[in-house]
Amino acid sequence: MSKVLLVTGAAGFIGANFVLYWMEKYPEDKVIALDALTYAGNRANLAAVEDNTNFTFAHVNILDEPVIEALLKDHNVDTIVHFAAESHVDRSITEPDAFLETNIIGTHSLLKAARQVWIEKGLHPSDHRFHHVSTDEVYGTLSPTDPAFSETTPYAPNSPYAASKAASDHLVRSYHHTYGLQVSTSNCSNNYGPYHFPEKLIPLVITNILFNKALPIYGDGQQIRDWLYVEDHARGIDLVLEKGVVGETYNIGGINEWANIDIVKLICKLVDEYFANETELVQRFAKATAAIAGQSESLITYVKDRPGHDRRYAIDPTKANDILGYQPQESFETGIRKTIAWYLNNEQWWQAVMDGSYQDWVSKQYGQS
Ligand SMILES: NC(=O)c1ccc[n+]([C@@H]2O[C@H](COP(=O)([O-])OP(=O)(O)OC[C@H]3O[C@@H](n4cnc5c(N)ncnc54)[C@H](O)[C@@H]3O)[C@@H](O)[C@H]2O)c1
Repeated sequence: MSKVLLVTGAAGFIGANFVLYWMEKYPEDKVIALDALTYAGNRANLAAVEDNTNFTFAHVNILDEPVIEALLKDHNVDTIVHFAAESHVDRSITEPDAFLETNIIGTHSLLKAARQVWIEKGLHPSDHRFHHVSTDEVYGTLSPTDPAFSETTPYAPNSPYAASKAASDHLVRSYHHTYGLQVSTSNCSNNYGPYHFPEKLIPLVITNILFNKALPIYGDGQQIRDWLYVEDHARGIDLVLEKGVVGETYNIGGINEWANIDIVKLICKLVDEYFANETELVQRFAKATAAIAGQSESLITYVKDRPGHDRRYAIDPTKANDILGYQPQESFETGIRKTIAWYLNNEQWWQAVMDGSYQDWVSKQYGQS
């Protein structure tokens, strides 16, 4: 049976990739893509599906509970996939308030709207699902020899971002146990891929190489992250919706741990290779003199570590593997090459994101900013 999805944070990095994945795989389903279009939201990410009659864009803040209720009712939504969040750890250190507002109060506002429409008014008493998208950062940090995070690892968030996500995970759980809301949660490791906002490590390194700018490495660069190609995250959520047990949480990851400095060196090597093999890149990115000389690594610059910087995250995906049959399709080798190629081929996208001019494009195209 076809579904009607409300996808929050749909114009962000993972939300947009999820919508593109979903609409291709399930063309019969209707998708309401909701986003407040903060600095991280970019409606241009959804350009490929804008003309699809099963797609609707809603420029809405998740804090606006009456509007969310109206959307749920008017569109007969049966599934919420909740990505909307303030997501950048560095920003949560300098300006934590927005993280508490959106990630905690905003998630609660969505839960209240879902409870109101699906349970109190009995519109979809059992045939509904609230899927909450969370992060491995709620589990805190690991030493190099600790076992990876499992679903039973105690929460120990270390940044305001991680703490706000942890709080939202608990609220989602409580709405299941207290009100019977049909919830599921997935906690995923670091994602990478197309449409990743250029303030995050992988796109930052790629675009800085193209501008011949320093590649900043926090501290000793030995912070370890577990990287997953964004479409493999979408596949994991798809499986949780299809086969996951209501009320449960699933860790999604690809067993792919890398120290930050090693990722940066790998990107340098691959970008250098692209420049050596594709001569038109030399003309298109004439500023990238280090890459043209095959020396992108010379741009690496160590900077002061950020406060409370977690040393290692690693996801144990055994439960998702065994119960959902989850396996990522991209290896890191294929995923990182695809990602670099995407940034080299989509200069217009990241240039517009960086100079903010995509907002002009959006208002010309859709009459709003
Ligand atoms: N990026 C990762 O590696 C990663 C890993 C695991 C989990 N997650 C989680 O996945 C989700 C999406 O992450 P992302 O990297 O795509 O983030 P992102 O910052 O790229 O996108 C977030 C989106 O939410 C929107 N938004 C923010 N506040 C809103 C509000 N109040 N109302 C409506 N929309 C609002 C933004 O406009 C943006 O489009 C987040 O919940 C994050 O915690 C991210």
